[in-house]
Amino acid sequence: MQELILDPLSVLVLHGPNLNLLGQREPGIYGSLTLSQINRQLETEGQKLAVKVFTMQSNHEGVLVDAIHDALGKHQGILINAGAYTHTSIALRDAIAAVSLPTVEVHLSNIYKREEFRHHSYIAPIAIGQISGFGVQSYILGLQALVLYLRQNM
Ligand code: DQA
Repeated sequence: MQELILDPLSVLVLHGPNLNLLGQREPGIYGSLTLSQINRQLETEGQKLAVKVFTMQSNHEGVLVDAIHDALGKHQGILINAGAYTHTSIALRDAIAAVSLPTVEVHLSNIYKREEFRHHSYIAPIAIGQISGFGVQSYILGLQALVLYLRQNM
């Protein structure tokens, strides 16, 4: 009997503006881990879950929109911390809706405990779900939830 070899799932992790400064940026709110350290933890978790994890960060809305478009046909799901664009960007929301890839939204801080303007997310209504307030664990839990969703729904 021939064995069916399936390609492992692939997940795109997108980090939005100012997250390149993690480690030095308001550590009381965002913690002391750098973005590279967070990415390494995500890659390690990806290995445990047997999924490929690709990470990218940009401070530019259009670059993030392009990355979401490019994900089509390459990745099966998106994990996104859109940073401040969460609260402002209809373009990012429309891009995610356009490619129709299952997406999980994450935040290091608990956005609902903070300023009023952070309480609204343009992305949440079109995401599978949102995890907020657990530091780097928001990303890890988000990746686990996304992979579980993909395995149950694909
Ligand atoms: C953030 C929360 C946003 O409100 C903020 O603009 C960020 C980071 C978080 O991970 O907690 O840049 O997305």
